[in-house]
Amino acid sequence: MVISLLAVAVTVGIFLGLTVMLLAAEKRLVDYGICTLSINEGSVVFEQLGGITLLSTLYENKVFIPSACGGKGSCGYCKITLISGGGPILPTETPYMTRTEIKSGVRLACQVKLKENVEIRIPEELLEVKEYKSVVSLVRDLTYDIKELNFDLISPEEIKHRPGQYVQIMAPSPDGHVFRAYSISSPVYEKNKVQLMVRLVPGGIASTYLHGLKEGDEVIFTGPFGEFKLNEDPEANVVLVGGGAGMAPMANIIYTIYHQWPDRKCHLFFGCRTTKDIFYFENFETLSKKHPNFKFTYALSDPLSEDEKWDGDTGFIHLSLDKLLPVTHKRQAFLCGPPPMIEAVIEILKDKKYRDEEIFYDKF
Ligand SMILES: Cc1cc2nc3c(=O)[nH]c(=O)nc-3n(C[C@H](O)[C@H](O)[C@H](O)COP(=O)(O)OP(=O)(O)OC[C@H]3O[C@@H](n4cnc5c(N)ncnc54)[C@H](O)[C@@H]3O)c2cc1C
Ligand code: FES
Repeated sequence: MVISLLAVAVTVGIFLGLTVMLLAAEKRLVDYGICTLSINEGSVVFEQLGGITLLSTLYENKVFIPSACGGKGSCGYCKITLISGGGPILPTETPYMTRTEIKSGVRLACQVKLKENVEIRIPEELLEVKEYKSVVSLVRDLTYDIKELNFDLISPEEIKHRPGQYVQIMAPSPDGHVFRAYSISSPVYEKNKVQLMVRLVPGGIASTYLHGLKEGDEVIFTGPFGEFKLNEDPEANVVLVGGGAGMAPMANIIYTIYHQWPDRKCHLFFGCRTTKDIFYFENFETLSKKHPNFKFTYALSDPLSEDEKWDGDTGFIHLSLDKLLPVTHKRQAFLCGPPPMIEAVIEILKDKKYRDEEIFYDKF
């Protein structure tokens, strides 16, 4: 038994060693020369020394596409459509693709290398995404592990975004910089600042960097990104469901809505484990007094003995949603939080006959 385990370990070791050597050899020996990358039927064309990924090629030429995991191949956000060149789809890409996407040539830009001339298609709005230089103007604690960070824009001086969109922060790491996605919590009418709510992930590169920032520090980010599209029809009811730092896009959507449509119906459901995770409660009490069509429900999933004074909902937030969500015809739902919460909420919304196009979500 021990010998066969040893044999497996040795074989795996040799295989990994050979793979590393082959990759290193490819880097040193293979010269792909200058290749062209053509975007959207030649509306933008770059020339680039081959051998790096399409994601890096795009970034080097200031075309910014979503890449929430920073190119690790673990988020599936960096989708582009390959028209020609680029080789066959890789096993690292297929887990993120539907059959239709595979048939249509959708690929992950961080996995495809520029080894020949390549033509791709991306949504036109991504060509509008910019790189921003900003300065930290205010940092404050929202809870024991979530900080609110405010950035004043230096250049460009203004950002145009839709409620619920996110930016990608550039954070330093021992292997160069990395990008991570953070939803914008400031409303869309505040055009010369960006506010984020960041939860500290122990040992996490970007969240540790962001939690260590102080007023006056300069920060680079790209954006805006994201598929959230708020219905402009004020008759459409909005339901928001979030947990933890998932409050960020919710706050943006809520304050944007009540700035534009004071009587619009909107209900926020926010899941917390204990009262220590509660924040923005007083802000929403004030808002709901001014706008009676704004409702909000917080629920504690794991109340502690010291939470005995809590007289709100308890249990998982999708159960509060199931109990309180009214039947409406024009409606939209925006969800942000951990994957199990999103999945449970989608199930409830499907039971209540929400269609796919009425549900928007970001899992994090
Ligand atoms: C569209 C989108 C919007 C987002 N918006 C926000 C936001 O508004 N606020 C916010 O705080 N975060 C947000 N995130 C998550 C954020 O992008 C990072 O993934 C998170 O901050 C961790 O990055 P890191 O560099 O600190 O950790 P990493 O260095 O990437 O990871 C360190 C370790 O922690 C694990 N890990 C990574 N993420 C998590 C997690 N969320 N929980 C537990 N373990 C984790 C990793 O597997 C790894 O083992 C968003 C993500 C997406 C996709
Ligand atoms: S950047 Fe995350 S999968 Fe490509």
